[in-house]
Amino acid sequence: MKSDFYEFFCPVKVISGKQALSNLPHEMDQLNVKRALVVTDKGVAGAGLISYVQDAFQGSFCEIGHIFDETPPDSSNMVVNQVAELFRQKNCDCFVAVGGGSCIDTAKGANIVVTEQTDDLMKFRGAERLKKAMKPLLVVPTTAGTGSEVTLVAVISNVQAGVKMAFTSDRLYPNVAILDPKMTMTMPPKITAATGMDALTHAIEAYYCLQKNPISDSLAITAIKLAMGNLVKCVENGKDESARLAMANSSLIAGMAFSNSMVGVVHALAHATGGVCHVPHGVANAILLPFGMENNLAKKACEIGELAPYLCGREIQGDDRAKAGAAIQAVRNLNKKLNQLSGLPNRLRDAGVTEDKLEAIAKVAVNDGALIYNPEEVTFEEALEILRRAF
Ligand SMILES: NC(=O)c1ccc[n+]([C@@H]2O[C@H](COP(=O)([O-])OP(=O)(O)OC[C@H]3O[C@@H](n4cnc5c(N)ncnc54)[C@H](O)[C@@H]3O)[C@@H](O)[C@H]2O)c1
Ligand SMILES: [Fe+2]
Repeated sequence: MKSDFYEFFCPVKVISGKQALSNLPHEMDQLNVKRALVVTDKGVAGAGLISYVQDAFQGSFCEIGHIFDETPPDSSNMVVNQVAELFRQKNCDCFVAVGGGSCIDTAKGANIVVTEQTDDLMKFRGAERLKKAMKPLLVVPTTAGTGSEVTLVAVISNVQAGVKMAFTSDRLYPNVAILDPKMTMTMPPKITAATGMDALTHAIEAYYCLQKNPISDSLAITAIKLAMGNLVKCVENGKDESARLAMANSSLIAGMAFSNSMVGVVHALAHATGGVCHVPHGVANAILLPFGMENNLAKKACEIGELAPYLCGREIQGDDRAKAGAAIQAVRNLNKKLNQLSGLPNRLRDAGVTEDKLEAIAKVAVNDGALIYNPEEVTFEEALEILRRAF
């Protein structure tokens, strides 16, 4: 995976700040589209957030063609087909995803089905299989975690096989990402904590995974600083508007970083834990992050040590190992604090994983694409060992 050059690409227009949502119809107009299929879920709609979106369309020439609010937690191949069918039936010309990663990735998946005029999403699994120009996709994230609003990735569950599949393509970048703090302020504390740890995991893995480069490094550090300064504040007080906006930016910036440097063993294990035991993505990442960092110590103590000042909030004395050890301890301390504040599980056993499932998770994880970018090679036995320690 190492080469003599690096690439960095992120063709997403970002609009971020209070009242940013009011720009949505204008951005559709700029993209020359008029009729949106809104992809959301019951939690987001129930929190009253779709009414903000409807308000934004008042007095504009653009309209909402249909609102699909039945996205399940974790997108699936079945729901993606359903959304694609609605897009065609309702004569929509663009997707507007309003929600967390599950809604955003459902819209990305449906966009593949519509664009490729297929009923078999599986054919496009993997990297760079998409050749046609996609329908415009505008994203309003309501969690601050996945960064999917600026990534080239869609993660979609194959329900029958119990695995999460990754689709990556430059065509999957959304056109516009709109961060508005009022859209994340209703997130309950535990979801805030879990999704925030997903963002932090993206930034940390981005900083030591194999496609890291000077641009992804600078983005990763900024994302870490924003997360360490604001995640606890958001969990303690969900209505803290400036902390919410800072976390939304942290998540987006971490997304830009990892979409280029990629993620590693933590995500491989988290995808597998989600696929086999349905543990929410952010929860699995939070639990596995310190163990994944330890897994990479032999090759990446220097890089992990470089993160110590941002994770610890102070300079750490000593050699690379000492600094890296302090960085990992800071992540454990943050997890503990989030557990006290919100009940975020700190062990797999507290997140609904039973010991007899660990082998199945390890088996799925060693076939996950994220492992390609992990500095350390990870065998089935090593994956199982990490899972046992995190259990
Ligand atoms: N494409 C990518 O780049 C990428 C990156 C990381 C993760 N993912 C995927 O994203 C999915 C997880 O997304 P997620 O962590 O954002 O969670 P999610 O989208 O599954 O949402 C979690 C829950 O939070 C609720 N919720 C969301 N926003 C809310 C708000 N503002 N107020 C009240 N409730 C709200 C939802 O209704 C849902 O019940 C996983 O499938 C994961 O694999 C994708
Ligand atoms: Fe993630």
